[in-house]
Amino acid sequence: MPSKHDRYKSKYTVDRQVPGAFEGETITRRRFMTGTAHTAGAVAAASFTLPALGLALAPVFEREPHRWEIAGPVDMFPDDNYIPVVVTLAAGIGQVGKTTVYVRKHNAALDTDAYDRNPRTHPFIALSDRCAHAGCPVRWVPAAERFACPCHGGVYDILGRRVGGPPPRPLDRFFTRVSKQGLVEIGPRYSVNSELKPFSPRGPGEPLDGLGQYLYPAQFDERK
Ligand code: FES
Repeated sequence: MPSKHDRYKSKYTVDRQVPGAFEGETITRRRFMTGTAHTAGAVAAASFTLPALGLALAPVFEREPHRWEIAGPVDMFPDDNYIPVVVTLAAGIGQVGKTTVYVRKHNAALDTDAYDRNPRTHPFIALSDRCAHAGCPVRWVPAAERFACPCHGGVYDILGRRVGGPPPRPLDRFFTRVSKQGLVEIGPRYSVNSELKPFSPRGPGEPLDGLGQYLYPAQFDERK
């Protein structure tokens, strides 16, 4: 006969005098059934929660390598005017995957801000035609040296900085480089704040000054 102390300490249900206990049993059948039911419930919940979570989060981690797109020979681009070129951002989806980029050569008199004044890192300036307000295509007006948006009257200066209308930040930009063959190539898109400080790509309507830079997640899919 186990002592009172053994009765509470023993791992065997018989020693603990659990009603209906079997010899050698260490867990009550009630507890075993409860544990089994909880485990089955957790497996069932995970079977439909995890796939949904995976689908929701996959685009955040899925990032296709960017293709550098040829814009044209270096001589094609002046340093005081933009030339529009069409590049493919996402291959295989036709016109939807293409966009217009306004390209000009680096100009030491114009590109004086801290982030693009080095012509070795920014040999060409390439601005997105997508308005930073709601994404309408802007148009370069050489006589006024302005980009104009037809949708809500957004206006940008020659550097792509907002000078009128509702856009919350400057026009997005693209990295550029010159190939060994003397061709200007367009790289990944990036966004800039009002000081032209670069940030990872943001969507239309998302400001990058002040708190805005922390409120909106970066976009890595160029089709967005
Ligand atoms: S989309 Fe350009 S100003 Fe609204």
